[in-house]
Amino acid sequence: FQPKPPVEKKPICNLKIQKEVQKVVNIVDIEEIGEKVSYCRCWRSKRFPLCDGSHTKHNEDTGDNVGPLVLKRKSN
Ligand code: FES
Repeated sequence: FQPKPPVEKKPICNLKIQKEVQKVVNIVDIEEIGEKVSYCRCWRSKRFPLCDGSHTKHNEDTGDNVGPLVLKRKSN
């Protein structure tokens, strides 16, 4: 029997959003989305799951390049 070496943990991306739950999942009714909405992908928004622009400071602080997922209705 060979004991497995401890697994080296990689960095987390979620620092403080809903840490009490096992997995952060957001379900959005697509019919309730207006013309355009921006969802956070940097995990730093104070309005998560919506983007509040916090990605700008995160990118400045870290050199990262993240931004929101923008959903918009197709204009006819
Ligand atoms: Fe997170 Fe904008 S605040 S992507």
